[in-house]
Amino acid sequence: MIPGMAPAFRPAAPRPVVIAGNWKMHTTPADAGELARTIGTRTRVPGVIRVLCPPFVCLAAVRDAVADDSVRAPDGLGVEVGAQDVHPEPAGAFTGWTSAPMLAGLASWVIAGHSERRRDAGETDELIGRKVLAARAHDLRTILCVGEQLEEREAGRALEVVDRQVRDCLGDADPARFGMDEGAGRPWLTIAYEPVWAIGTGRTARGSDAAEMADAIRATLGALGFPNGGAGVPILYGGSVTAAAIAEFLAEPAIDGALVGGASLKADEMAGIVARAGLTAAARAAT
Ligand code: PGA
Repeated sequence: MIPGMAPAFRPAAPRPVVIAGNWKMHTTPADAGELARTIGTRTRVPGVIRVLCPPFVCLAAVRDAVADDSVRAPDGLGVEVGAQDVHPEPAGAFTGWTSAPMLAGLASWVIAGHSERRRDAGETDELIGRKVLAARAHDLRTILCVGEQLEEREAGRALEVVDRQVRDCLGDADPARFGMDEGAGRPWLTIAYEPVWAIGTGRTARGSDAAEMADAIRATLGALGFPNGGAGVPILYGGSVTAAAIAEFLAEPAIDGALVGGASLKADEMAGIVARAGLTAAARAAT
């Protein structure tokens, strides 16, 4: 807890637990479907929203592979499909990009602002904010990624950097449109806190640091006008999450799941991660 900061608001309904897998630039249309089905059948845990985000060219294969009941959890939850990025404009002369309306029927989630796109495609918070609006305009649920660089954390600036990212990405968003999609029991907005130095490095943040950041992100959401001080927005941790590492994060009430990169390509790892997430979902449902 940050000195002087109010404790995180306790929501009336428990926040959903979300495990999202970001396959990055891995798999082909020939093998993605089988991997998705294998992961899906091994993660049939009640109460956990599972999202797989394959490359664009594999979206149709993954959608088809998870379309039947073999991946459904006993409570009826299936595997949902997400895209790894989206263009802010609906159509136009933008070679190589994919827009939100093009994803209709292929994906119901999108990742926006992943640090690898910030780094490799020069994405700014302003651009990412426009992507979030475009996604919502086309009924796609966004996983917005934020996180500090190592030197920013070492300089004691992590909270300030992430506060700025959240403000600049969501400053133009109408909070009333980014709460829970009550009918579907899904959030329109989920935030993934991914410290850049923890992504793909095998070095995770500490659970307590991630929880401190989640509290700070919710304080920023509250300042932006999100209801109940942002209490309804799920916040995931991302960065070298594995079956062995997940428990430390899900032990924190402020953390609602994980955005998993490398380990999301391994069915064994995903089975362990989703099993642990199921314990959190069950405990929340019981309170
Ligand atoms: P990682 O990636 O789990 O391989 O560190 C996480 C992410 O980039 O979302």
